[in-house]
Amino acid sequence: MLWLKALHLIFMVTWFAGLFYLPRLFVYHAMSQDSISNDRFKTMERKLYFGIMTPGMILTFIFGIWMLANDAWALYSGSGWLHLKLALLVLLLAYHIACGVWLLDFKHDRNRHSHVYFRWMNEVPVLFLAGIIILAVVKPF
Ligand code: HEM
Repeated sequence: MLWLKALHLIFMVTWFAGLFYLPRLFVYHAMSQDSISNDRFKTMERKLYFGIMTPGMILTFIFGIWMLANDAWALYSGSGWLHLKLALLVLLLAYHIACGVWLLDFKHDRNRHSHVYFRWMNEVPVLFLAGIIILAVVKPF
């Protein structure tokens, strides 16, 4: 169980590194004017999303579900924090998919959002991280 938890946390950090950095790339991409920058941002975004973030997310989920299947579900299925954590994870998955949609918009040169919009979107993962960590560690209810 502790090995699974360690791997769960390693891949969670990998996933969040991308959740924090990709919208920041979108901020700079939305401000860029020249085609060299445009092409470079497209490459950076694609590699981050498909090479780091998405594998990180899948492995976080695999090790989390593995812990549930082992004994965590039996231990915590009656606790509210686990259900709220899982609900937040569904919303976080939706945010991850939204990042993929923005990435495709940039890829096809059809992004219509301003850099200010992405600055706000960049704050969203902070809220998820704080909420999920507090629920998982403090287990307040
Ligand atoms: C499908 C996705 C996920 C599932 C099924 C899942 C499930 C679990 C389970 C069963 C545990 C062990 C609970 C315990 O023994 O205390 C755990 C631990 C933990 N999870 Fe997740 N988790 C998922 C995603 C995440 C994400 C995205 C984060 C962070 C944002 C996260 C943060 C943590 C932390 C910090 C712990 C350690 C808690 C502690 O030992 O104090 N989990 N997770």
